[in-house]
Amino acid sequence: TKIKAFQQTLLDWYDHNKRTLPWRQDHNPYHVWVSEIMLQQTQVQTVIPYYLHFMEEFPTVQDLADAPEDKLMKTWEGLGYYSRARNLQKAARQVVTDYHGKWPSNAHDLQELSGIGPYTAGAIASIAFNQPVAAVDGNAFRVFARLLEINADVAKPQTRKIFEKVINKIISKDRPGDFNQAIMDLGASYMTATNFDSSHSPVRAFNQAFLDGIEDQYPVKTKK
Ligand code: ADE
Repeated sequence: TKIKAFQQTLLDWYDHNKRTLPWRQDHNPYHVWVSEIMLQQTQVQTVIPYYLHFMEEFPTVQDLADAPEDKLMKTWEGLGYYSRARNLQKAARQVVTDYHGKWPSNAHDLQELSGIGPYTAGAIASIAFNQPVAAVDGNAFRVFARLLEINADVAKPQTRKIFEKVINKIISKDRPGDFNQAIMDLGASYMTATNFDSSHSPVRAFNQAFLDGIEDQYPVKTKK
């Protein structure tokens, strides 16, 4: 089927071209979670040294739960959006006390944790626990809007659900975490916000907006 062919093409490309990133060394939910929170408002290249230092200071979720506030803030210094660090510790304490240190593995329960919204829950569930759920961030909006010429307005809050539904049909059931991360890498390389020419993209044959010469029309986004 076309979906299978798309998955195969995307994952083959990912296997040969994925970025080597410190949080991709294993599938530990603590590692995935901290990296995803850092990556929310901060670029990959900036996050890398912060992530490595953070893991030296707080190697486990228990260490983070127990961390003195000043040490936590010092470690976060420079990343900005300090509420992220406070929520991180709140959620660490929830995992330790409410879940006895054992992470919930589905996207629904993960969203009960402080600072974890639908995107982060999907990222952790798929990357750490192999659950076939979408992780819809700006990359996913852009990539799937172009591939499928989805006309829903990505500035509207209710649009996320439309994309989740579509992606949940297309996502690889065998390798959902790699599928989601491949979409992130595609969105950071061939299908960026400023590159409207996917003629070299590994999935160009599946990119309807490219085939129709209208990539610059996607994603549809009204000004707020
Ligand atoms: N941006 C957000 N999450 C990411 C991930 N897991 N890998 C690369 N870039 C990302």
